[in-house]
Amino acid sequence: MHADPTTMLQITERLVRAGCVAASEEAAELTAAAPTSAMLEAWLRRREDGEPVAWIVKFVRFCGHVLVIEPGVFVPRFQTEDLARRAAAFLPPGGSALDLCTGAGAVAVHLRCSVPSAAVLAVEQDLDAARCARRNGVAVVVDDLAGSIRAAAVFDVVTAVAPYVPTGSLHLLPSDVLRHEPRAALDGGADGLDVVRRVVGRAALLLRPGGHLLLELGGDQDGTVAPILRDAGFTDVVAHKDDDGDLRSVTATGGR
Ligand SMILES: C[S@@+](CC[C@H](N)C(=O)[O-])C[C@H]1O[C@@H](n2cnc3c(N)ncnc32)[C@H](O)[C@@H]1O
Repeated sequence: MHADPTTMLQITERLVRAGCVAASEEAAELTAAAPTSAMLEAWLRRREDGEPVAWIVKFVRFCGHVLVIEPGVFVPRFQTEDLARRAAAFLPPGGSALDLCTGAGAVAVHLRCSVPSAAVLAVEQDLDAARCARRNGVAVVVDDLAGSIRAAAVFDVVTAVAPYVPTGSLHLLPSDVLRHEPRAALDGGADGLDVVRRVVGRAALLLRPGGHLLLELGGDQDGTVAPILRDAGFTDVVAHKDDDGDLRSVTATGGR
């Protein structure tokens, strides 16, 4: 839909009043995707109520790919794009990758598109998210991590954007995220690393020696995760920070 500058300003002001931090970008996105003005009004009300834009327009862009997003499924964050690109750089032609906690499949889609000759498998425990990942063309096993995958030491790359927010810090997330996005996608337990610890254990078995594990993390979790990785046989543990100096991910090399 096209909206004149005055209407765009009014929409932006409504979103600002609703507490949206990227109000003008969201106004542009909602307006561009709305087929009619009645639909735009309905969408604006949903956004004012805190629903993620991606649930409303049913897509999100990630590393240049347009992904289907269904309401109820964790929305891939642009901050994860760096991990996806690093993982793609580690994946050899004809190699294999496993994306644990795939959600809508964002990282797996990027791996598949970057290295078309590679085999990319994903694991997700939430049925709605797994369905969404399949709609995005990802081969998904519905599983608690990768318990049912028996093939040992075969993957060149394992990625995991697992839940990693410490339970006590959940209240610091934006209120619309807390109110709408699935808690199982966010809550990582007391220190945020309950699922990450299990990911490290699974990855140690599933990665071939010399393969790479990439974990999304935050805060100062690299300090806690580094010894966990070394105890599991990983080497070359490297923390990656963004331009603001905030921790985004850790990479490590499988050793066994
Ligand atoms: C933070 S979201 C990340 C999703 C996706 N990787 C992304 O970057 O958009 C974490 C995902 O892990 C899934 N998850 C949490 N615990 C899991 C487990 N034990 N086994 C499989 N998936 C799990 C959640 O359902 C959620 O989809």
